[in-house]
Amino acid sequence: MTSRADLTALPLRDRAALGSGADFWTTKALGPVASVMLTDGPHGVRRQSGATDHLGLAGSLPATCFPPAVALGQSFDAALAERVGRALGCEARALEVDVLLGPGINIKRDPRGGRNFEYYSEDPVLTGLLGAAWVRGLQSVGVGASLKHFAANNAEFDRMRISADIDPRTLREIYLRAFAHIVRTAAPWTVMCSYNRINGVYASRNHWLLTELLREEWGFDGLVVSDWGAVDDRPAAVAAGLDLEMPGGGDGDARVVAAVTEGSLDEADVDRAAGRVADLAERVARGRAIEVPEFSDTEHHRLAREVAARCVVLLRNDGDLLPLAPGRSLAVIGAFAAEPRYQGGGSSHVNPTHLDVPVDEIRALAGDAAVSYSRGFGAAEGEDPAALRAEAVAAAAAAEVAVVFLGLAESQESEGFDRTDIDLPADQIDLLTAVLDARPDTVVVLSHGGVLRPPPVVAPAVLDGALLGQAGGGALADVLFGVVNPSGRLAETVPLRLQDVPAYPWFPGEHGHARYGEGLFVGYRWYDMREAAVAFPFGHGLSYTSFGYSGLTLTEADSAITVRLDVTNTGARAGREVVQIYTGVPGSALARPIRELKAVAVTADLEPGARESVSLTIARDDLACWDTRTDRWLVEPGTYRVWAGASSRDLRAEAEIALTGDAVRLPITANSTLGEALADPAAAAILAEAFGAPGPDGGAALGVDVLKLIASVPLGRLANFGVAPDRLAALYDR
Ligand code: BGC
Repeated sequence: MTSRADLTALPLRDRAALGSGADFWTTKALGPVASVMLTDGPHGVRRQSGATDHLGLAGSLPATCFPPAVALGQSFDAALAERVGRALGCEARALEVDVLLGPGINIKRDPRGGRNFEYYSEDPVLTGLLGAAWVRGLQSVGVGASLKHFAANNAEFDRMRISADIDPRTLREIYLRAFAHIVRTAAPWTVMCSYNRINGVYASRNHWLLTELLREEWGFDGLVVSDWGAVDDRPAAVAAGLDLEMPGGGDGDARVVAAVTEGSLDEADVDRAAGRVADLAERVARGRAIEVPEFSDTEHHRLAREVAARCVVLLRNDGDLLPLAPGRSLAVIGAFAAEPRYQGGGSSHVNPTHLDVPVDEIRALAGDAAVSYSRGFGAAEGEDPAALRAEAVAAAAAAEVAVVFLGLAESQESEGFDRTDIDLPADQIDLLTAVLDARPDTVVVLSHGGVLRPPPVVAPAVLDGALLGQAGGGALADVLFGVVNPSGRLAETVPLRLQDVPAYPWFPGEHGHARYGEGLFVGYRWYDMREAAVAFPFGHGLSYTSFGYSGLTLTEADSAITVRLDVTNTGARAGREVVQIYTGVPGSALARPIRELKAVAVTADLEPGARESVSLTIARDDLACWDTRTDRWLVEPGTYRVWAGASSRDLRAEAEIALTGDAVRLPITANSTLGEALADPAAAAILAEAFGAPGPDGGAALGVDVLKLIASVPLGRLANFGVAPDRLAALYDR
């Protein structure tokens, strides 16, 4: 930060007051400090002008509803996320919003998580890449981001009290990795601490989280804001590193003053928090001076359509049923074709500027082909579900192709509660079964925020739209007719059954605790390790063309591995390929996933036969594991396997590279084993001098390697076997 307003003239009462909101969405204007407006976020600007709330209940001014994170994650495309961030920034500026409350970057630990639609992925590297790009885009036009929810808010159940109980390695490698990446590479103006506790301590008053890790280790220089209503003890929160309590309608300011007066809170902490609020206001003032490019709702709707089309995943396409051949008559079926499901419920709910109706968009691209529409399910009171179904089946029988829109209604998933299953509603499965009987050429289009397991009946073609925002209808039509060749990829594994999910036995938790018993093995890290069958693997997504991978090479320089390969469009249509780079360490001494995503690249739209040389970088830090003995990141020495794949299970090319890794030297103590001491050159030399080198036969006469036999004995306990303690003293405390 370059300058800080002089707050010394303000009385303590005012300095304390700067640390809480003036109202639901703004900070206070006090002395030299100007007020700042923060609003949700993340996939559109939710600027409320009348009643205010944090649950998406009251209305807001119209704004473009871009694809929510569940869809944007499926683009695997950081450049696209950056464009979305920038467009959101432009809208925020137009609506006089200074900080947009996003991105939400929590890891999708379990498909039941009620807010998974607001998060990108089960993978921290993908989440970090997309989140950082989004933040860069937003902040480039002078609007601050709020990285949320820091940290480990992976379920809605009891979210304001529950403790996420996570071992340190898992916390670092899975749940904090994306936060660290974004803080370090994109410098968000604010970070929002979450409601929950982490290993027993509320995020809002977690000194380790908010100060030692975020600021001292990662170098964060912005402001820490609470989630709305997350603070239960403001003086403790201020001492821990919280700067701004939102919305802050309680007695927090008075409690801060009282705590300083009675000596339980250091006044310097209050000044630090007030200073950061002042810094944010100055940042905002500088941001407001940045010129914003002109835009219109129509242009942003067009961008929302382009982005949405790039988020659609073609899950299956038997017999190349898609793209739809021109002129074939269509029976469009399913309530979501007329009333689209396009965003999630809760605080992120946006009031869109336009809303595409999928069946209208299909008609617009179908040319002269007949397009019928029947609702098929969702009978209102007094309506006969069988009659609705029968009407749809008749329409399907009369057309050449049926396009069935299925998914979850808004009431079935939202912020605030988790799901209890991952199934499509039974009436929709009945409908699909009947339609498939009448018209085998059936395309299913899915709309949902959380993962859905495939129904027991299999349609030949399935498009997964997740939640595509206000232009999703047009985007789906573009993909159905091949105006856009799909390149979206699953950012979450689709399991065969809920019982297969790694967190299944522990989710969502009980008695105030959620135990992350699956540890590091979240999502594909679990399924791939166990070679377990899944419905669709992480990273999966088909195209209307095909791609060949060749010439994979690896080079190591400047603390990074550069991966190069050629990708060729080997099919008959233009299209983009999403190249995924995974690494593993065969024979690792650590419990680690066999394969983890480390880098992603999206090619240009390649014409048939065209080739692109793709170059990707794996940062050395991304190969490191958290070492709980030394509380440090360490790169394990050894041979690393690097795969280029079209999913975590569709690996197209591989190569190996040997890495020296990081040396660890653990202090030799009485609790170190003989084996550890012998592995340490200095200690081994002392041992050799005191006891002589191990004999050449090393106990061979006994038929065993004696050293191996006694390697696990702690040095201190050798006394039990007649080694005088003072003979070992020279080994210790170096
Ligand atoms: C949500 C946040 C949101 C805030 C303000 C909270 O309930 O968890 O994500 O930004 O409300 O609406």
